Amino acid sequence: MHLLHTCDVLTPDPMTPPPPVVFWCLSSVQASPASPRPACVADSEDDAAGGGMFSFNQTHMRKSFQLMNELRNKKMLCDVQLVAGSVEVPAHRVVLASCSPYFCAMFTGDMSESKAHQVEIKEVDGHTLRKLVDYIYTAEIEVTEDNVQVLLPAASLLQLMDVRQVCCQFLQSQLHPTNCLGIRAFADLHTCTQLLNQAHAYAEQHFTDVVQGEEFLGLSLQQVCSLISSDKLTVSTEEKVFEAMISWIKYDQPARLELMPKLMEHVRLPLLSRDYLVQIVEEEALIKNNNTCKDFLIEAMKYHLLPADQRHLIKTDRTRPRTPVSIPKVMIVVGGQAPKAIRSVECYDFQEDRWYQVADLPSKRCRAGVVSMAGRVFAVGGFNSSLRERSVDVYDGARDQWSPVASMQERRSTLGAAVLGDVLYAVGGFNGSIGLSTVEAYNYKSNEWLYVASMNTRRSSVGVGVVDGKLYAVGGYDGASRQCLSTVEEYDPASDQWCYVADMSTRRSGAGVGVLAGQLYAAGGHDGPLVRKSVEVYNPQSNSWKLVCDMNMCRRNAGVCAINGLLYVIGGDDGSCNLSSVEFYNPTTDKWSLIPTNMSNGRSYAGVAVIDKPL
Ligand SMILES: *[C@@H]1O[C@H](CO)[C@@H](O)[C@H](O)[C@H]1NC(C)=O
Ligand SMILES: *[C@@H]1O[C@H](CO)[C@@H](O)[C@H](O)[C@H]1NC(C)=O
Ligand SMILES: *[C@@H]1O[C@H](CO)[C@@H](O)[C@H](O)[C@H]1NC(C)=O
Ligand SMILES: *[C@@H]1O[C@H](CO)[C@@H](O)[C@H](O)[C@H]1NC(C)=O
Ligand SMILES: *[C@@H]1O[C@H](CO)[C@@H](O)[C@H](O)[C@H]1NC(C)=O
Repeated sequence: MHLLHTCDVLTPDPMTPPPPVVFWCLSSVQASPASPRPACVADSEDDAAGGGMFSFNQTHMRKSFQLMNELRNKKMLCDVQLVAGSVEVPAHRVVLASCSPYFCAMFTGDMSESKAHQVEIKEVDGHTLRKLVDYIYTAEIEVTEDNVQVLLPAASLLQLMDVRQVCCQFLQSQLHPTNCLGIRAFADLHTCTQLLNQAHAYAEQHFTDVVQGEEFLGLSLQQVCSLISSDKLTVSTEEKVFEAMISWIKYDQPARLELMPKLMEHVRLPLLSRDYLVQIVEEEALIKNNNTCKDFLIEAMKYHLLPADQRHLIKTDRTRPRTPVSIPKVMIVVGGQAPKAIRSVECYDFQEDRWYQVADLPSKRCRAGVVSMAGRVFAVGGFNSSLRERSVDVYDGARDQWSPVASMQERRSTLGAAVLGDVLYAVGGFNGSIGLSTVEAYNYKSNEWLYVASMNTRRSSVGVGVVDGKLYAVGGYDGASRQCLSTVEEYDPASDQWCYVADMSTRRSGAGVGVLAGQLYAAGGHDGPLVRKSVEVYNPQSNSWKLVCDMNMCRRNAGVCAINGLLYVIGGDDGSCNLSSVEFYNPTTDKWSLIPTNMSNGRSYAGVAVIDKPL
């Protein structure tokens, strides 16, 4: 079975903290105020005076079960011995029957087991049986990556539906591009409908990553077809689907070659660019050599040759664009000053216009560099109210937890952080005594920070952004000359060199820097005591800056992120107050608007990133 090909989850690499041992205590989950509970008036004198006194003892059941469990452990009053392999589990029929419809039917029916002292459970292994009987007595069970595959089928057999549900939730929390197809197959086998749908949707949404994995290559023809025929596949271009199909065929070419026409039926060739189509004809022998496959290619060519208004005459599913369900995003605001360094982290749900708290940072942190990379949020360096930090914490949204990775070489607060390619850059900043021109780069696969070329200028309170494969360091403060800066430098990772580009129209330290549609924005910031509300934008093609509409408020040391074609500027301070408001810029209307709901408190120097909304 292909379940949990979780090389990522199993091996302790720095990006993936070891899987949590999830300890589910069902008793605490179930004890909700809504549970049936006769009016409890034991401690109300008024009602007592009115006549009888009705009492419900909340701990009664728990105590009883505890005692029954102790009796079981001492093998007292046991009236049945469950046997699985070499394991024998003594128990009380009535307790087993009270939780499991399976045992209830067994012990109350006409079958021979209803009287037998020993009952053999053939389909469950001894260890698992013991765990489930423990659960029946204690309401506690531990679901882990190692036991979930046997626990779920066993719980299904004994009809312990709560345990089954917990197993499904656990698997859902483990969904990853490397294992979602295995989990989907497992859910299918055990008719866990909800998990099946979740795993399927996950595979569609992460198609590009999923097809890189072993699980994809091992799918059956029918499973591949079901995936690639889906309208909901999330792919940047149809090329990804075509290439996935070719790699699936090539994985076992002798057996799979003849299946190619069946797959081609679901690849939407007409949606490919003309250039790409021509290139396929030239290069892909698998297609050239089979007439049926060629027909699909001809159909696509024909589509491109027809004038746009006649293309609808080609009646086929293959011209229908895919309509992926976009994964909703949230904005995560990490730490900051309010007015001192804080641990609080809050998320903004754009669809629901709602702020909510998530797991706090492990320690207080403001003035950190915050970015999203490989599905996680990195909080790099910063200030904890007494010391500039070298440390880096990483947030995993699916698990709502922070964990540390390798520290930088230097202490840095008010640094710039940005991701270029697969690499995270920490740019400039302040180490507690001087402003820094040095730059370090982090590779998450090796969990290592290495120096790259330094900037030409020391820059603390620097803003950074990436456009077209180049990293830009914008403004900041040069401790040596005690000047706020209007200069801007560009870093080319290929040559490992920084060079100056056009200056901004004005000095800006602590500007909010972000990228929208291939342009670099610098919003607000300050020059000495003067806090700005002006915003300018850099076009790398023309190497020039131009002013756009002012923000509603003066802001420096604000957080910035871009999503759905809008640039958000979060918090900051206006020279006297730390702001809780957030505003966004729409480049098509050249307007700034405040979002309807402010953060729970004012914060400046917070870091902001955009992440997938957790399931
Ligand atoms: C193309 O593939 C189909 C399906 O396997 C097969 O029936 C047909 O003979 C092949 N055509 C050629 C020319 O190889
Ligand atoms: C706002 O934050 C600054 C640091 O950015 C801090 O010095 C100041 O005390 C804060 N002001 C208020 C009113 O919280
Ligand atoms: C800041 O970090 C240093 C070093 O880890 C620690 O000793 C200090 O207590 C921290 N300060 C605060 C205010 O958390
Ligand atoms: C800051 O960096 C300078 C130059 O490397 C170094 O001499 C100084 O000790 C550093 N300060 C702190 C507080 O780390
Ligand atoms: C948000 O904060 C701004 C000031 O920063 C204030 O003018 C506005 O009324 C606040 N909005 C809400 C909904 O509280």
